[in-house]
Amino acid sequence: MKLTMLMTQQAQPSFLQIPTGIMDLSGLRCRPQKEKVVVVMGATGTGKSRLSIDLATRYPAEIINSDKMQVYEGLDIVTNKISNEECEGVPHHLLGIVDSEADFTARNFVSTASLAMKSIVGRGNLPIIAGGSNSFIEALIDDNNYEFRSRYDVCFLWVDVAMPVLHQFVSDRVDRMVEAGIVEEVRKMYNPNCDYSKGIRRAIGVSEFDSYFRAEYSSSTDYRVREKLLSEAINEIKINTCKLACRQLGKIHRLKNVKGWKIHRLNATSVFEKHGREAEESWVEMVKGPASVVVNQFLFNFDHSRSFVPTTSTVRAEKRAAMAAATL
Ligand SMILES: *[C@@H]1O[C@H](CO)[C@@H](O)[C@H](O)[C@H]1NC(C)=O
Repeated sequence: MKLTMLMTQQAQPSFLQIPTGIMDLSGLRCRPQKEKVVVVMGATGTGKSRLSIDLATRYPAEIINSDKMQVYEGLDIVTNKISNEECEGVPHHLLGIVDSEADFTARNFVSTASLAMKSIVGRGNLPIIAGGSNSFIEALIDDNNYEFRSRYDVCFLWVDVAMPVLHQFVSDRVDRMVEAGIVEEVRKMYNPNCDYSKGIRRAIGVSEFDSYFRAEYSSSTDYRVREKLLSEAINEIKINTCKLACRQLGKIHRLKNVKGWKIHRLNATSVFEKHGREAEESWVEMVKGPASVVVNQFLFNFDHSRSFVPTTSTVRAEKRAAMAAATL
């Protein structure tokens, strides 16, 4: 996002206003300025979508989905796509746009996401890339020619949740998917000859139902056997989701520790250990607040948090963010 573009937009919230005198923008015209992009990473279920929407409602921003299953149209329950309501009017790109039978590769992602980013910065907005497919993100950012890095400054945010807590959450989420009608949704797509290695059928929550649907097809199968197959399928989905979360976490660790990406970790664990209003407060204190501090710093190059109305929670969030920054 170009600062000049941002500043010409009207009715900015007060924390976005840049005090005159601190930055001399006249000099910026002389050298090509890099555009800015925020990347929200994290395992499945941690709250990446929520954080990206929180940020996008504070800054003029648009979101690019980087979840390799959410790019497909269909199977909204299985792929856990956010609803129109949850989008809160924030434009989303690469969400439910690919034919479910097609194969959307990392290469396809790189070219489509690059185009989306160009159009977003062209509108003077900040691109926020959010999603769990770290292989897509890596392919986009670490291209062979260093093209992305020469064009964009990147701010990495990582929503982290302690694994045992996350495993419980994603298991419960699978039960909620069952209540929401995942079985019916997948049954509509079922075809005894389908290929589970192609398109959206690779998603967790599709092939696990195969034996169950097969038994449904052969009417000879006993009711109790079918019930058992169904509960096994659900259990399998839970296990596979937990395994996915572990793999995603491993990749983030590799990008951070082996590749040296400067990733800001936000510990969201306490959000998942609480309920209702306390969970909301914890989200602001541990995730939304510190993330805003990091992004302000990234966008404006100085600590903008002082122009917040200092509530105890933002002050605490700032302290935590400062502490977190010191340990990263
Ligand atoms: C993250 O937060 C949880 C809950 O407050 C805490 O128990 C845990 O030690 C924290 N993890 C790290 C690595 O800081």
